[in-house]
Parts: sequence; C-alpha cells; structure tokens
Amino acid sequence: MELILHSSQGITGGVIAGISVAGVAGALLLAVCFYAGLYRRKKGIEGSFLQGEFDDHGQGPGSSSTLEKTSESGPHMGGVSLQLTGITVDKSVEFSYEELAKATNDFSLANKIGQGGFGAVYYGELRGEKTAIKKMDMLASKEFLAELKVLTHVHHLNLVRLIGYCVDGSLFLVYEFIENGNLGQHLRGLGKDPLPWSVRVQIALDSARGLEYIHEHTVPVYIHRDIKSANILIDQNFRAKVADFGLTKLTEFGSASLHTRLVGTFGYMSPEYAQYGDVSPKIDVYAFGVVLYELISAKAAIIKTNEIITESKGLVALFEEILNQPDPEEDLCKLVDHRLGDDCPIESVRKMAQLARACTQENPQLRPSMRSIVVALMTISSPTDDWDVGSFYENQGLVNLMTGR
Ligand SMILES: Nc1ncnc2c1ncn2[C@@H]1O[C@H](COP(=O)(O)OP(=O)(O)O)[C@@H](O)[C@H]1O
Ligand SMILES: [Mg+2]
Repeated sequence: MELILHSSQGITGGVIAGISVAGVAGALLLAVCFYAGLYRRKKGIEGSFLQGEFDDHGQGPGSSSTLEKTSESGPHMGGVSLQLTGITVDKSVEFSYEELAKATNDFSLANKIGQGGFGAVYYGELRGEKTAIKKMDMLASKEFLAELKVLTHVHHLNLVRLIGYCVDGSLFLVYEFIENGNLGQHLRGLGKDPLPWSVRVQIALDSARGLEYIHEHTVPVYIHRDIKSANILIDQNFRAKVADFGLTKLTEFGSASLHTRLVGTFGYMSPEYAQYGDVSPKIDVYAFGVVLYELISAKAAIIKTNEIITESKGLVALFEEILNQPDPEEDLCKLVDHRLGDDCPIESVRKMAQLARACTQENPQLRPSMRSIVVALMTISSPTDDWDVGSFYENQGLVNLMTGR
C-alpha cells in the first residue's frame, strides 16, 4: 500500500502523525472489500439483525459519511479501483505488520493484556511509546472502521487515544497504553486492591465526562452502544477513559431514535433498545447506570441466581427491588461491595444508587442526559450546600434526588 505522508504532527515523542490519503483509502477499501463479501462474526445477539447493517455506520457505498469519496482516481488493489480520496484521518499513523509483530513478540501470550468481543489486545512499545494493540479479524472491518473513524475525529481526556492502525492479514488498532486495565478487572478481578469509594466516584465522573463529550459536544454526535465496565479503562492515576468504539454509531444531530440492528452486551441493554431496536443517547445512559450499580456492588451486570436451571437476574432488577422499599438503607448496605469495608459513606452511596436508578428508568425520556449526570456526580464527589444544582438539571426529580429532598 502506498504511503504518502501529508502532515507530520507530534504525538508523544515526535511520532509522525497524519496518515496518507491513499493509505487510509486503501485500508478502508480493503477492509470494506473483506467486509462486503463475507458473513461476519457477530457479537452479542446481533446475528439476526444483519440487514442494512452496513449503512448503519454511514460507511456503506452510497451513504453519506465523514469518510467521503471525492476523487476519481486512486490506487488499485485486487483489481478494485479505490475511488477514495479527500479522507483526512489526522493524528493516526499507519504501522507495518512487522513493526507491530516485533513490538509484541509476535503477538505472544505473554504480551496479551486483554480480550474483548472483537479482538485480542497486546502490549507493545512502538516508536518509544507504550501502546496497546488490538488485533481484529478481517471480518470485523465494520468495527475497525467505526473505531478508526470516531477516535481520529474525537479527542478528549476521558476517551482512549488512538495512535494508529495497520491493515495486513488482520486489522490492527494501536492505542495509548492505559496502565491499570479495565474497570471490571478492578471490581471483580483477582489480585487487585479494592478501589476506594472516592476513586469509584471519580471513575464514574470521568467516564460520564467522556460520554457527555461524544453525546453533546461533537459534530456529529455519537452513541457508544457498548458502555460497560470492561470498556472503561483505568490509568496510572486511577482516572478513567472510555474505550472500545467498535459499535459506536453516528447520529444525525437533532434526530430522534434510529432503528438499527441490535449490538451490545446483555445486562447493559435498555429495554427500548433490546425490544424495539430504538437507538438514542439514552441507551448509553442506561448502560452507564448499570456501571454505577457495578461501582457500588462490584457485582456483574447479570447475576446467575440458579446455575442448574440457568436462572439469571440483572443488576438493575436487584437494586430496583431494594430501592423501592420504603426504607432501603439497610438492604442497600448489604448490596454494597463488602471490600469497601468501613470506607462506605452511605449517604454518597445512596445518591449514587438513586442516580443509577434514574439512568435505568424504563422510559428513555425520563433518564437524565449525560450532562446532568456529570453535574450530579460532581455534587456527589464534592458535596457542598453551595451548589445551585437546580439550574443544571432539566429534570426536577434529579434536583430533589441530589439535594436529598
Ligand atoms: N489502550 C489500552 N490499554 C490497556 N488495556 C487495553 C487498552 N485497550 C483495551 N485494553 C484491554 O483489552 C480489553 C479489550 O479491549 P476492547 O477495546 O474493549 O476490545 P473489544 O472491542 O474486543 O471488546 C479491554 O477490556 C482492556 O482490558
Ligand atoms: Mg470491549
């Protein structure tokens, strides 16, 4: 693949940033070709919702997209003319397979740091920078493209940073390495110290800020669609970054919900999405509410209540039952992660649980926006009577909740 560098901006350590128009075009088309001809591996329960999925991300032929076709000429690959130029995917670097293989010891097990639904993630040092390299099957081209597209356009302290990519045999995405792994590992993994309550509140606030950014401050706005503790990364200072934008969906600004194929993870899917496929930013809000319940309880989003007859219960239902009691405090305490020990300010926990409950309401319109959630979490993280919280909330219920009325 031809590589023409059209810009060089410093990433850390002076890594060349800016990838070639032809290179990206080639990468995209190659991925597209693989995608178009093959039935893809599915994640979650999306298998029966294949129809029209390509247009879902706005990347299908003929659909409008931020990756636009603007030129007649382009490099040839496999006899297919790449009529794609005018693509700018700044601040990403194209890496060679050899470079990635060398950095990861040929993708050795010892370098493996993660496994998600779409790929294995390896640690590797590239051009002087610590990186995490996600290796994806060629059949996951749609997720690869979605992630490449979002993370090259959207930059925020609370979103994982993409450094580059590679298309060669497999699809590779190269990210900044986030030292402390994912939130799920901290809550339920072995050999991790329990996260103190104040850190949990900070993690909630950080991830809420990342989500608020993609929901409200980018053009176009995005819906993540796979918010869960495994997709929230924890850095060396225990600050959180939202990761895994493979299922991210572009929404037209101001549009109502869109109908789409079902993707995501059980236990985090809102009812209107699971039942009707309705997509709106409120599906991320719902999933975020489940993450808040996880932060409180350290329990998984789905709990097996009876292994033999495979009976399960969601965290939402579990908390709901307790929060509906006239005096929930005692039972709420029983649900709190016992590893918190004495470090459990029950008032703060109660507010977080109430916020999670507001996020996971059945009616998406009643759920708060990520903006309100950020404000609510700010009041939980530094409680003060001086907050004029009322002016922030579009929703009186939340005002009452946060002010304890
Ligand atoms: N930048 C990173 N730094 C450190 N670990 C990471 C990074 N990206 C991913 N991981 C680890 O790999 C796992 C899977 O990554 P993810 O992007 O969620 O892939 P998938 O799309 O396959 O779910 C994460 O849950 C996390 O543990
Ligand atoms: Mg993931």
